[in-house]
Amino acid sequence: MTGHSADGPAPIPDESIRPRSLTDFIGQDELRANLRVYLDAARERGKALDHTLFYGNPGLGKTTLAQIMASELGVNIICTSGPVLERSGDLAAILTNLGRHDILFVDEIHRMPIVVEEVLYPAMEDFKLDLVLGQGPAARTVKIDLESFTLVGATTRMGLLSSPLRDRFGIVARLEYYNPAELARVVRRSAAILNVEVTEDGALEIGRRSRGTPRIANRLLRRVRDFALVHGNGRITAEQALHALARMDVDENGLDQMDRKLLTVLIEHYDGGPVGIKTLATACSEDVRTLEDIYEPYLIQCGFLKRTPRGRMATGKAYAHLKMLT
Ligand SMILES: Nc1ncnc2c1ncn2[C@@H]1O[C@H](COP(=O)(O)OP(=O)(O)O)[C@@H](O)[C@H]1O
Ligand SMILES: [Mg+2]
Repeated sequence: MTGHSADGPAPIPDESIRPRSLTDFIGQDELRANLRVYLDAARERGKALDHTLFYGNPGLGKTTLAQIMASELGVNIICTSGPVLERSGDLAAILTNLGRHDILFVDEIHRMPIVVEEVLYPAMEDFKLDLVLGQGPAARTVKIDLESFTLVGATTRMGLLSSPLRDRFGIVARLEYYNPAELARVVRRSAAILNVEVTEDGALEIGRRSRGTPRIANRLLRRVRDFALVHGNGRITAEQALHALARMDVDENGLDQMDRKLLTVLIEHYDGGPVGIKTLATACSEDVRTLEDIYEPYLIQCGFLKRTPRGRMATGKAYAHLKMLT
């Protein structure tokens, strides 16, 4: 990875390129149009927005949308995540501090322990908290009223969410991969904020190799910018983009070294599969969750990898892409 040179411009934090309003949010047209309606309706009724669940692969805009909802509604957003909420008391403390119509954002909500999840049910349903005071036979429950609030959950793994929790969301929205043209718009928007000049085909070249993911488009843009500065005149043309992406080992499908390693191991060591994900993870020196959350979804989407009941398999398309013989 290329670092920022000491005398170059100060790095601009990620937060500065995160869209702040629904209008700035690129793509996901249907979802965006629907959200606009739900937000307007909640405002009109003067009620808290229905609990909302966003699901989709990492980097597609779940956190961004949660923050946009808060700013569109003019309410506070309190951010936490499933693994951080270890005890039911952790969540109770947050819930009792929420203001009217505030948004509680729980990232990776599928990783919330079940005891914590159970605190959420009455809170989501009736804005009530069941507090257990004391222990043993002397224990008693008291109900505490909460302000009406909106829970916004985000998950990369819809399948790992319990159904009682899933059923308590009024709005459930799936974020899809973005197409290259949309990602080119993301690149051009971020480039303007970062003060980098990028041509249309330069942006499209980055967009095409960003695995359908805005976070990756922004990351590639920053690195391509470094190469354009050091090896060119700072302007990102298609040629500059291609040069930089080749140097970063990102191929024309957006696959990086790890993607190719995964497919190569699968083909060379396991005859193309099927092989279990744990075995594959060990062979690639990666952890299972990273493979499942980051690498697999895109390889499956591109048709390079198949998930079968007996394990993962490389497709003919993968052999062709890696120029290997079946
Ligand atoms: N629709 C979009 N338009 C423009 N930029 C986006 C969009 N979605 C995501 N981004 C950018 O990608 C980054 C990652 O998005 P984020 O909301 O953090 O993803 P997630 O929470 O789904 O992992 C953000 O910092 C933001 O700048
Ligand atoms: Mg996020």
